[in-house]
Amino acid sequence: MSADTATQWINGADALYSHDPRMQRDEAVRSATFGAATLMFAAAAYGLSTGAMIGFDPDAVAQGFGLSGNEIPVLLMTVGRPASGNWPQKPRRPLDQVLEFV
Ligand SMILES: Cc1cc2nc3c(=O)[nH]c(=O)nc-3n(C[C@H](O)[C@H](O)[C@H](O)COP(=O)(O)O)c2cc1C
Repeated sequence: MSADTATQWINGADALYSHDPRMQRDEAVRSATFGAATLMFAAAAYGLSTGAMIGFDPDAVAQGFGLSGNEIPVLLMTVGRPASGNWPQKPRRPLDQVLEFV
């Protein structure tokens, strides 16, 4: 990608997001969710377990991790070896009840 093309993409993103805090926040949550899912799949490929968590104090997490004013803690993820006796995955609805291709 040339510098001109990169600049065009950056300008386009700026026009879309820079004046819209809701879009910024939505995009942060979307991006973090993709990243978290990728981390979960990668961990599983290594035989590790993961646990997503939203039950935390966002201000304390932001302070603890030194996040800047335009960074938000979307979720925390534990990654590790499952303990022996770890409970099995909780029941899930069948895929056709939660996903529809149109
Ligand atoms: C977005 C999200 C946030 C979650 N937050 C928490 C949390 O704060 N604390 C907690 O104990 N479990 C939390 N959970 C649940 C666990 O991460 C996990 O999904 C749940 O225990 C089900 O486990 P299983 O997928 O092995 O069945 C959260 C799950 C999701 C998807």
